[in-house]
Amino acid sequence: MKNFASRLIEWQRKHGRHDLPWQGVDAYRVWLSEIMLQQTQVATVIPYYQRFVNSFPNVSSLAAATEEQVLEHWSGLGYYARGRNLHRAAQIILEKYHGEFPQEFDKIIELPGIGRSTAAAICALANHERRAILDGNVKRVLARYCGIEGWTGNKKVEEQLWQVAETLLPPKNVAIYTQSLMDLGATVCTRTRPKCVICPVQTDCIALQTDRIPQLPTPRPRKVVPEKNTTFLLLMHGNDVLLEKRPGNGIWGGLWCPPQVESQNTVMEYIQRNGVQVREQIELKEFIHTFTHFKLHITPLLIRVARKPEQVQQAGSEWLDVQAALQAAIPTPVRRLLQKLILDNQWE
Ligand code: ADE
Ligand code: SF4
Repeated sequence: MKNFASRLIEWQRKHGRHDLPWQGVDAYRVWLSEIMLQQTQVATVIPYYQRFVNSFPNVSSLAAATEEQVLEHWSGLGYYARGRNLHRAAQIILEKYHGEFPQEFDKIIELPGIGRSTAAAICALANHERRAILDGNVKRVLARYCGIEGWTGNKKVEEQLWQVAETLLPPKNVAIYTQSLMDLGATVCTRTRPKCVICPVQTDCIALQTDRIPQLPTPRPRKVVPEKNTTFLLLMHGNDVLLEKRPGNGIWGGLWCPPQVESQNTVMEYIQRNGVQVREQIELKEFIHTFTHFKLHITPLLIRVARKPEQVQQAGSEWLDVQAALQAAIPTPVRRLLQKLILDNQWE
């Protein structure tokens, strides 16, 4: 029987994905696609990727853009630190490497936002270098194929998986092999109900042979997800809504959001502090936005104001027409809210 890599490569040629827009492109585009694909599915990424490379076709154009422009292109993709790191990395590449994306693994991994697996994927896919990858999908495939128990985020388990990943590497055709691992994880060895009957490595897959597919990979130890509350103040004057640019690197850092207060009780305080003349106040339905580490309960409060108060026109806040706001760098829950406002005709 042929080894793991040969079977995967053969399978990839017949059944893998061959029409992804980032296949066979330069290192800059491979890098961009790998960053976008870190936490986001292929189907979602494709239109974002295409808009992004149209606007920023190379490192120099990305480095020359403002963070605002980059985040506008990232708006809706989530995990905005990825976009901010990408932008910073482009500026570093421009300065240190004259805008040429570096070829060496050691230089690539030093760039912000690039870890061991992403650096290896860029080297393997763009430069055909012999490097092992280990993203979430690959961890699942290898934990099952080798019957490795333990949560894959655990350091020791992860180290074991890296060793396996290195051992299984073929001597050549590493780019195709890398793509085959990704494609197998995405289309065959899926998280639930893997399609083992069509899998090229079914004959010696330990999870399948020992009937442990439901148990592998071992899930993350259960932790309660903390829940937080916030109130969005949708201050509206005619069709204009007040948005503030969020600071720094925190949640939605650099994105535009309505002013937020911690609870309904502090709404009054905000209104008085900023001299807001309320014409009408409508509490909209609460909704939940789930982050990796916590759940955020959002209560939107639509406040129609008699006039735009001067106090809130501080640096980093702007009145924007709702349509213009939708073009800005805003996170998904804000986009949903604004779209709902339009649909419900919640303004004059
Ligand atoms: N996920 C991560 N990298 C990928 C790639 N190059 N193609 C498809 N899915 C991926
Ligand atoms: Fe995954 Fe099933 Fe293939 Fe094993 S046989 S690698 S569990 S798809």
